Amino acid sequence: MKIGVLTSRIRVEEKLLFQALEKAGLDYERIDVESIPFLLDSKAFASFDAVLIRCVSHTQAFYASRVLESQGVKVINSHHVINVCGDKLLTSLALLEHGVPTLHTIVAFSPETALQSIEAMGYPVVLKPLHGSWGRLLAKVNDRDSAEAILEHKKTLGGYAHSVFYIQEYVEKPGRDIRAFVVGGETIAAIYRNSSHWITNTARGAKASFCPITPELDHIAKAAAEAVGGGILAVDIFETPEGRLVVSEVNHTPEFRNSIEPTGVDIPAKMVDYVKKVAGGEI
Ligand SMILES: Nc1ncnc2c1ncn2[C@@H]1O[C@H](COP(=O)(O)OP(=O)(O)O)[C@@H](O)[C@H]1O
Ligand SMILES: [Mg+2]
Repeated sequence: MKIGVLTSRIRVEEKLLFQALEKAGLDYERIDVESIPFLLDSKAFASFDAVLIRCVSHTQAFYASRVLESQGVKVINSHHVINVCGDKLLTSLALLEHGVPTLHTIVAFSPETALQSIEAMGYPVVLKPLHGSWGRLLAKVNDRDSAEAILEHKKTLGGYAHSVFYIQEYVEKPGRDIRAFVVGGETIAAIYRNSSHWITNTARGAKASFCPITPELDHIAKAAAEAVGGGILAVDIFETPEGRLVVSEVNHTPEFRNSIEPTGVDIPAKMVDYVKKVAGGEI
């Protein structure tokens, strides 16, 4: 059995995954996505039983996964999953279509319609780029003045994708959100991400702590993972003031370095175990 790990920059996560692959006694090869050409009419990767995609860049993961799948290689996560999770609009639709509780969201294609939608939704609202992570370029819009300014900036200074306005209700979270890791349909671990800031990404300084996997959390995390196509995923979940859980987004190449210690779960080992099962045809 031969496993490939498609990477760009090697983060702590990739090092931990390599260690876990070694510990599991698996034959694996690191493939640097930036240093090899991908010949579209070749079968250069056909000898791999599975390839785990760990590129930092979503665009690299998006296209490389598609090329590998065209060669008949099993890819984790699949191109479909990367496509859905890499786009917040597609993620929202997948969640809605599968009946997974999520946030009220409107999409508008001009600043004028966006402003009307924001006013109709009521302040505050959150504006997000469709593609992005680590909490970058999110805007909490508290009033009409800032709405007008942000919409104009997005339209004028951003690439075209920034003129697809993704407008979301603001959820007053209890100083934290939840990140649940779902691997092969099982919720293997969950953390609270605690922060005094409304953006609770650990990349932005939020502190991870143990979050119990209640039946409710388990259910919604699994449902969200299934809605986007399953695989190795991290589901962002908010607790609403009414005590409900709602899914915000699903991540296709999750970072997990801060989640091992608080949960006591060997997350890379669980991921590698899943990759092994896919490679071996068990899944
Ligand atoms: N609608 C919202 N209401 C309240 N907080 C939000 C909302 N959307 C995002 N956040 C906060 O911002 C963080 C990042 O948002 P997210 O949509 O996950 O973007 P990213 O892909 O950059 O992680 C969330 O984890 C949460 O803390
Ligand atoms: Mg997120």
